[in-house]
Amino acid sequence: MKIDLNTAIIPSREGAAETAAGCLANGGLVAFPTETVYGLGADATDARAIARLYQAKGRPSFNPLIAHVSDLDAARQIARFDERSIRLAEAFWPGPLTLVLPKAPDCPVADLATAGLETIAVRVPAHPVARDILRAFGKPVVAPSANLSGHVSPTTAAHVVSDLAGRIDLVVDGGPVYVGVESTIVGCFETPLLLRPGGLPRADIERVLGTALAGLPEDGADTDAHPLAPGMMASHYAPRTPVRLNAQHLNTGEALLAFGPNPMSGSSASIVMNLSAAGDLVEAAANLFGHLRALDAKGSQGIAVMPIPDEGLGEAINDRLRRAAVPRT
Ligand code: TXA
Ligand code: MG
Repeated sequence: MKIDLNTAIIPSREGAAETAAGCLANGGLVAFPTETVYGLGADATDARAIARLYQAKGRPSFNPLIAHVSDLDAARQIARFDERSIRLAEAFWPGPLTLVLPKAPDCPVADLATAGLETIAVRVPAHPVARDILRAFGKPVVAPSANLSGHVSPTTAAHVVSDLAGRIDLVVDGGPVYVGVESTIVGCFETPLLLRPGGLPRADIERVLGTALAGLPEDGADTDAHPLAPGMMASHYAPRTPVRLNAQHLNTGEALLAFGPNPMSGSSASIVMNLSAAGDLVEAAANLFGHLRALDAKGSQGIAVMPIPDEGLGEAINDRLRRAAVPRT
């Protein structure tokens, strides 16, 4: 692939969805907003386009992609649903929930997108721009987050451009996204598994299932060598600046990522960003990746993060922060 492309950036006004669909149909790579984060889309049935996508992101190709479709009917063309997964789809789609399901017998999605697995991750996004593009294109679109592999996920078109300009064909700018963390991923296995906490809180899903969601095994089964949710590698969502969690005080030279109305009493940090002064976890999720990027750009010696409650969207926020804090080699 030519890695020096002219990346066009268009606002999401009338006609943008048709432009995006035309680009996808030609094997192009199109970044667009979903309610969770910006995605980098490619035609899910076009192995060559998917290969370009992996290359543009610098993504290890064993890491499978989520197929995005416009509704449950379209999802049933690519995956097999049982009573339980239909219940989840009907309750939460369109919305920030991805279901991992057995592939349908005649699933047209390229094997490269599913990394050779027997299962496929499917999602129906709620963002109007994403929905318009999926409807205009009429086929499944694979879309990982539109960042370089390992970087912080993009929540604005500017984030996408800073990572991927010159490497992709088109960016549809629909303004900042409103959820701010990626979709929750549920593996619809015999025992339903929470493969990734995300924009849909665990408790909502458990209410519909009528049972608790099992987590990933703590015993190392979710490792880089043998991943259950293969993208859940320990070091991910990575700012370049070291991140220190559950900070009760500030060290010299650290910037502060605060949460709540009392950003660390007595702290003299010159650089402070608050995820939510009101202590609202929904607002905090929407601000998370943007604040991490902004603090990372300040060149501080470290980023100290105040404790964040682990309930509701806090589970996804803390998951991303733990990954951001893993020391990089
Ligand atoms: O909110 C989102 O889900 C965003 C937007 C753009 O839709 N997309 C996103 O995609 O976060 P990505 O590629 O960054 O993360 C997809 C995750 C990875 O952790 C991958 O390993 C996992 O889904 N995954 C995909 N297919 C899978 C499968 N068959 N079994 C288990 N995990 C799978
Ligand atoms: Mg990602």
